[in-house]
Amino acid sequence: MNTVSTKIKLRAIANDKFYTPLKLVKIHLDKFDIHNAIIYEPFKGTGNYYNMMKEKYTDCNVIYSEIDEGLDFFDYHEKVDYIISNCPYSIIDKVLEHSVSLKPKIISYLIGFGNLTTKRIEYMNKYGYYIIDFHLTKVWKWYGMSLIVSFSNEVDKNIISFDRIVHR
Ligand SMILES: C[S@@+](CC[C@H](N)C(=O)[O-])C[C@H]1O[C@@H](n2cnc3c(N)ncnc32)[C@H](O)[C@@H]1O
Repeated sequence: MNTVSTKIKLRAIANDKFYTPLKLVKIHLDKFDIHNAIIYEPFKGTGNYYNMMKEKYTDCNVIYSEIDEGLDFFDYHEKVDYIISNCPYSIIDKVLEHSVSLKPKIISYLIGFGNLTTKRIEYMNKYGYYIIDFHLTKVWKWYGMSLIVSFSNEVDKNIISFDRIVHR
C-alpha cells in the first residue's frame, strides 16, 4: 500500500473539508442548463458551489445546508429539483440514501473516483436513479482521480456498464 492511501485508511477522523477549485465548480455546473427550479447545495463549505449557483441560475431558488452553520443535510426533508455538490466522502452511503429520499430530478456529486463502487451504483438504480454523466478529473493534492457523477430519475439505464463478478 502506498503512503498516501495508508495515511487515509489510518486517520482517526475523516477529513471531509475539501473545497472545490472554482474552475472545476464551473465545469460541474455548466453541465446543467437549469431554469425555474429548486437547486440544493447540501454541503456548502466556503460557498464555492453555492455562490456560483446563485450567479449562474438566476431564475432558480438556490438553497444550501452546512453543518458548520448549524444546518444539517440530514435534517432537510423538503422537495428539491437538483442536488449538486462535492460531498463528504466518509459518509457517502448516508449521503446517497438521503439524497434519494428527497426525490430530486438530478443528483450530481463530485466524489473520489474510487468512491463510485458497483454496490453504490446498484443502490442508486434500485431507487430509480441512473448515471447520465461521468466526468473524470484531477485536483492537485487530492487523492487519486476525482469524478463528477450525475444520476437522473428520468432515464432507465446507466451510460456505463459493469459486472459484479470477482474475477480470478
Ligand atoms: C468536501 S467539503 C465540500 C464543500 C463544498 N461543497 C465545496 O465543494 O467546496 C464538505 C462540506 O460538507 C460539510 N458537512 C459535513 N457533514 C454535513 C452535514 N451532515 N450537513 C451539512 N454539511 C455537512 C463539511 O463541513 C464540509 O464543509
